[in-house]
Amino acid sequence: MSSDAQTLVEVAGLRRVFDLSQPWLNRMLERTGKVTLTAVDNVDFSIPKGETYALVGESGSGKSTIARMVVGLLPPTAGSVSIGGVDVWGERDAEAQRRMRRSIQMIFQDPFASLNPRWRVGAIIEEPIKAFDLLPSAGDRRDRAAELLALVGLDRADAQKFPHQFSGGQRQRIAIARALASEPRFIVCDEPTSALDVSVQAQVLNLLRDLQQKLGLTYLFISHNLAVVRHVATRVGVLYLGRLVEDAPSRQLFAEPRHPYTRMLLDAVPDIEMTGKDRTPVAGEIPNPVNPPSGCHFHPRCPQVVPECSAHAPPVVEVGDDRVRCIRAG
Ligand SMILES: Nc1ncnc2c1ncn2[C@@H]1O[C@H](COP(=O)(O)OP(=O)(O)OP(=O)(O)O)[C@@H](O)[C@H]1O
Ligand SMILES: [Mg+2]
Repeated sequence: MSSDAQTLVEVAGLRRVFDLSQPWLNRMLERTGKVTLTAVDNVDFSIPKGETYALVGESGSGKSTIARMVVGLLPPTAGSVSIGGVDVWGERDAEAQRRMRRSIQMIFQDPFASLNPRWRVGAIIEEPIKAFDLLPSAGDRRDRAAELLALVGLDRADAQKFPHQFSGGQRQRIAIARALASEPRFIVCDEPTSALDVSVQAQVLNLLRDLQQKLGLTYLFISHNLAVVRHVATRVGVLYLGRLVEDAPSRQLFAEPRHPYTRMLLDAVPDIEMTGKDRTPVAGEIPNPVNPPSGCHFHPRCPQVVPECSAHAPPVVEVGDDRVRCIRAG
């Protein structure tokens, strides 16, 4: 992928293998071998400044594992992540590392779990400001917290309350205010609205979009819900058992999906176009990732399967601006 001046996030050859083996002695006694799970397999994508890249896929496809490697929480087995030209896992200079950490934030699915229940909201929001030494004066920090609360649509008096005094949507707003406190350029949102009521989801999505415009933020947006992704993403990556099977501009992906798996996911979306068409549930089950199917992982579920599909992993085929891992895509 291109690494021009407009690219903020560059992920290349990212891979993560988990070792699920029993301890050595058990393996010796039970005569069992090592067991590994490849959660993320050679994933590449890039995100231009100010845009939103969405990762979609069924449960267990590797979305959160990618997110954790991108923000620096989980070391990759192979590959690299660079943000604003700084290598997340390779940078040795402490000051450059600090600047990079400050520029990345993450928003999680469950806002309650990500907020300390014993702290007042003001203290929760001020914490990153303190940690990164952004405002030495307590009064300035309080003002800044009030400003951030207003930015996410809450009241400055809310700083005195505790997280349990808010609704789910309001708590997600607090988590967003906290994420913004370190003045990040890049925010990873891992299913930020999946735990919320449908009516509240749209409000939070609109808030994220407004903040993006106001602050020039870049997002990596993770969701299993294509209807949500369509609303927010400029480009979409579709994951299947750790591999990116399609990576295309959002408009293109929804109008003309090229991978059979993407088509299957889209057919299962409850009528996003409101055309009155029936939805077809996603057929088949996700295989066990410890022992994935040979060749193209999707071949046992694929309606267009040919014998070659099980022989080797398909290479990336570029069709216009669409990158597809399917031998029949061209
Ligand atoms: N720490 C870990 N140790 C072992 N296996 C793990 C670990 N973390 C994730 N996995 C496995 O890696 C695979 C990918 O998990 P991941 O959480 O990234 O999926 P996901 O796409 O985020 O799923 P969901 O939609 O359910 O959140 C799964 O098979 C999961 O069981
Ligand atoms: Mg996840």
